[in-house]
Amino acid sequence: MRSVIRRRVTTMISAFLFQPPLSSISPKHHQYSLLLPLTTQRFLTASHSFRLRTFSTKSIPNMQDSASVSYLSQREAAEIDETLMGPLGFSVDQLMELAGLSVATSVAEVYKPSEYSRVLAICGPGNNGGDGLVAARHLHHFGYKPSICYPKRTSKPLYTGLVTQLESLSVPFVSVDDLPEDLSKDFDVIIDAIFGFSFHGAPRPPFDDIIRRLQTLQKRPVIVSVDIPSGWHVEEGDHEGGGIKPDMLVSLTAPKLCAKSFCGPHHFLGGRFVPPSVAEKYKLELPSFPGTSMCVRIGKPPKVDISAMRVNYVSPELLEDQVESDPVLQFRKWFDEAVAAGLRETNAMALSTTSKDRKPSSRMVLLKGFDENGFVWFTNYESKKGSDLSENPFAALLFYWEDMNRQVRIEGPVERISEEESENYYHSRPRGSQIGAIVSKQSSVVPGRHVLYDEYEELTKKYSDGSVIPKPKNWGGFRLKPNLFEFWQGQPSRLHDRLQYSLQEGNPAWIIRRLAP
Ligand SMILES: Cc1cc2nc3c(=O)[nH]c(=O)nc-3n(C[C@H](O)[C@H](O)[C@H](O)COP(=O)(O)O)c2cc1C
Repeated sequence: MRSVIRRRVTTMISAFLFQPPLSSISPKHHQYSLLLPLTTQRFLTASHSFRLRTFSTKSIPNMQDSASVSYLSQREAAEIDETLMGPLGFSVDQLMELAGLSVATSVAEVYKPSEYSRVLAICGPGNNGGDGLVAARHLHHFGYKPSICYPKRTSKPLYTGLVTQLESLSVPFVSVDDLPEDLSKDFDVIIDAIFGFSFHGAPRPPFDDIIRRLQTLQKRPVIVSVDIPSGWHVEEGDHEGGGIKPDMLVSLTAPKLCAKSFCGPHHFLGGRFVPPSVAEKYKLELPSFPGTSMCVRIGKPPKVDISAMRVNYVSPELLEDQVESDPVLQFRKWFDEAVAAGLRETNAMALSTTSKDRKPSSRMVLLKGFDENGFVWFTNYESKKGSDLSENPFAALLFYWEDMNRQVRIEGPVERISEEESENYYHSRPRGSQIGAIVSKQSSVVPGRHVLYDEYEELTKKYSDGSVIPKPKNWGGFRLKPNLFEFWQGQPSRLHDRLQYSLQEGNPAWIIRRLAP
């Protein structure tokens, strides 16, 4: 992107700086923060410190129909860049940084470093190449092992700076001569950052040969094109046929016309910096970026063959002589590590119960405390799980911390915690959650969402004077006292580590045994 050298376009200043905010765009930006169901709000606010959980890219990919997205001509794309770098005050360095970061986050959305660590960024002489250099730096920090092929360097400080930054991270630069003829042997992902939207004409050496090699690649490595698949016509696409067929296209600012003929599985949009005035002027219909993400998927994700979905786990070993002899301490260790790793909702666990007819039932709940006395969660005692537990007071808890390849199973008898403990916790919750707990006759049939809203409104008014909201009798905590733990750590070739802690009748010491994966 940004083919145009920075240039003041003074005539455009008033046109862009005095535009009203684009009303047609703003509602979409808030689409996920609109009223959530009360029951959901209740759990969103169920922690001591209130935090509104918005949807992240991981949780809800944007499903915008690609037909309703705007596409830019070459001239419009150049004009938008001029505007951004002129009256709107952006610098080329800034836009390049944001573009490269968008590319790196798009790659990370689809191609996990555990399987696709070896990345080759092929960078052209212009801004598209600069985007590739920035993307490679971010990918390095995300845990990938990038290499760079950058045959036609420029001496401008922006570019020499990017090279220095990569060199300081010991990211290798590979010459074209040293690239293997068959790129699939050495790389899992190739970033095609050769030519951007300002390119026209036929590719010249050495890029013509590199593009030829990319055209003939078999299944692996995957190709990720930055804004324009190199060798394609910016507006007409791969009009002569036989061009490269990227697996992922990361359009920047807005897709260019050529992207209409992109038929690979992953089309992303990056460049989260388009101000409403620009979007309005060019009538840009673009998907909203979810949460704090720098990229958003355009169109539906590809259909996958579920039976072929598998991850090769690579983790540190879990050895008998390294774990704590007390499983609660071992759980504390893993829990703290999961929190430190920034995993979302580390305290979310599946709770399985069975009714007296021995039919099992599972659902997620939030762990609200644990110690040597047991693991505590809160709920409605008259819910399905509540009635199961009154019929059969035994349960199983399951934690899965995906990004750490870890699973913990905990089993044992369950009892209600004291009324006093439940009262204390109930009143520590935000008032909205307290009202939500009264409103929700959990697990019963509700004639419509309005029933919940109406009662919620009514009670909100009733308690608007700040008076104490009484805890419903049927709301409180359960505590599971473990008699069995299992710590699971994913390993390559399905040779996972499984360490089980169990208790034997009359002996307080935990027995640790390794189970076959
Ligand atoms: C991440 C997550 C956390 C949840 N936490 C709780 C919780 O702490 N307590 C609760 O009663 N329900 C919680 N729920 C809702 C339950 O999964 C379930 O829908 C509800 O408790 C009714 O379950 P039941 O009909 O089996 O009793 C949570 C759901 C999710 C997805």
